[in-house]
Amino acid sequence: MRSALVTGCAGFVGSHISEALLKAGNRVIGIDALTDYYSREIKINNISELKKSPRFVFHEANLNNVDLDEMLTGVDVVFHQAGQPGVRSSWGTSFGEYIDNNISCSQRLLEAAKRQATPPKIVYASSSSVYGEATEYPTTESALPRPKSPYGVSKLSAEHLFSLYSSNFGLDTVSLRYFTVYGPRQRPDMAFTRFISAALDGAPIRIFGDGRQQRDFTYISDIVSANLLAASSKDHEPGAIFNISGGSVVTVNEVLELVQSATGNSLNIVREGKVDGDVRRTHGDNRSAKQYLDWAPQTSLSDGIQAQVRWLESTRITN
Ligand code: UGA
Repeated sequence: MRSALVTGCAGFVGSHISEALLKAGNRVIGIDALTDYYSREIKINNISELKKSPRFVFHEANLNNVDLDEMLTGVDVVFHQAGQPGVRSSWGTSFGEYIDNNISCSQRLLEAAKRQATPPKIVYASSSSVYGEATEYPTTESALPRPKSPYGVSKLSAEHLFSLYSSNFGLDTVSLRYFTVYGPRQRPDMAFTRFISAALDGAPIRIFGDGRQQRDFTYISDIVSANLLAASSKDHEPGAIFNISGGSVVTVNEVLELVQSATGNSLNIVREGKVDGDVRRTHGDNRSAKQYLDWAPQTSLSDGIQAQVRWLESTRITN
């Protein structure tokens, strides 16, 4: 790879992928609409180091109206990380944003890729939320997807588009189903950032439901390595789909214990009702990613939590 386009480059995952690509000597075009789902300041901060590289070009733009033909010219690989996140906030009138930012922009990107003389490879950031309450655990990629949230429906729709453009037009695409990603720069609405920040500040946290819901948490550097391997792999079928899951399946209550021991502070826990869209359990089967991408998670949950604690502590010192 020499030239990559990273959509959503100012987000949690996109900024880490951009950083790894630059470190490996590639040229990176980053695009981000800096939408207001969470603070623009956090996103600008996420790209502050990237902007120091002469091999990084940033465009503040929306994929739904930017000139993608021009942006894709000369690009070898696209890491499509842009999207409207938030499982629990995707109900009601906000669904339009999930259609625009997860489905329509993906279709627009695919159409533009198809028009290129040499179409780039596209690695799409899909999600474990496509499974909903899965039909089997550990869940393989062939399990029937039954999303439980509108967000999951939008991620699944886009995933189908990537496979569809692959089978119809021969585009080289691959979808990675990320399982609850955590680590430095994690979004502020996600569990670990909320829990660790509250532990550091002595603020209360809200636990949705009984806290016995399980997640297969995945550390950010493992997500980055999966993306890089997927970008260069020639072993998988075009349009393939892989689970990228960390192998650390724990309950939210167990996470609370880990956060308390990593910070040395006790949490002020407020228990609330279960939230619509929240699944009871995720647990991915990683064997396919191992077989076709030679990928396996490397970071234990306790090491990953400690890294996120250190990062959140450092943001408090610099702010
Ligand atoms: C996460 C991401 O937010 C999605 O973008 C992603 O697509 C999804 O993972 C996925 O793997 O597909 P989620 O698993 O809900 O979604 O991640 P967190 O926000 O970190 O929540 C983890 C658990 O903690 C959930 O059961 C949630 O209800 C609970 N939680 C979260 C609380 O009890 N309190 C909070 O304040 C936040």
